[in-house]
Amino acid sequence: MSSKLIAPSMLAADFGNLQRDVEMVNNSDADWFHIDVMDGQFVPNISYGMPVISAIKKHATKPLDVHLMIEKPERFIEEFAKVGADIITVHYESTVHLHRTLRQIKDAGCKAGVVLNITTPLVVLEDILPECYMVLLMSINPGFGGQKFEEVTYKRIKNLRQMITEQDLDTRIEIDGGVTDQNIQQLVAAGADAFVAGSHVFKSDNPIDTIKTLKILANS
Ligand code: DX5
Ligand code: ZN
Repeated sequence: MSSKLIAPSMLAADFGNLQRDVEMVNNSDADWFHIDVMDGQFVPNISYGMPVISAIKKHATKPLDVHLMIEKPERFIEEFAKVGADIITVHYESTVHLHRTLRQIKDAGCKAGVVLNITTPLVVLEDILPECYMVLLMSINPGFGGQKFEEVTYKRIKNLRQMITEQDLDTRIEIDGGVTDQNIQQLVAAGADAFVAGSHVFKSDNPIDTIKTLKILANS
């Protein structure tokens, strides 16, 4: 089994010290930068867009995992690729043209993934799974960091893992929301591969150590 991945969410970084926080992630055991884009329509919050992603990319030495929480993401795929996205995930709930949007992401030179909200049945992935480098399962309601992890996620990971195995694919499962050192091992046991952690990392006294602990727990 390949190594489990840690993706600190820059939503919880200190934007006044963005370069410092990017370098902290560069120097840590983290694997990806998780970048949350919110438009105030798909989710009830606005985060940041292309200029901030460019600023992060300028200093980042690890891939950018860009999570689009925006209506009709197909309008902006090429722009996100241009500012440095390596992986782009789009919500199933945000576009009526999911298949076309995934192709668009790949044509722009990025890896493509689908995100599901907690109540969206996994069965909608059945025919699109072969197109997915990754599936991101939300373990909170998208829009804000610092929320409590929803326990239903464990069952969803197990069922999705089974679906991936049945189709003989190597699609990664990423979990986003409320991930901590208290639940990461149970998430691995359920079948997840990559873990977003925002407040747990950035609100800790020593983010480098916190990332190291998450990485060790996920891989032991
Ligand atoms: C919320 C975002 C998450 C958020 C996670 O919609 O998708 O990536 O930053 O934050 P924590 O880890 O604090 O739950
Ligand atoms: Zn996210």
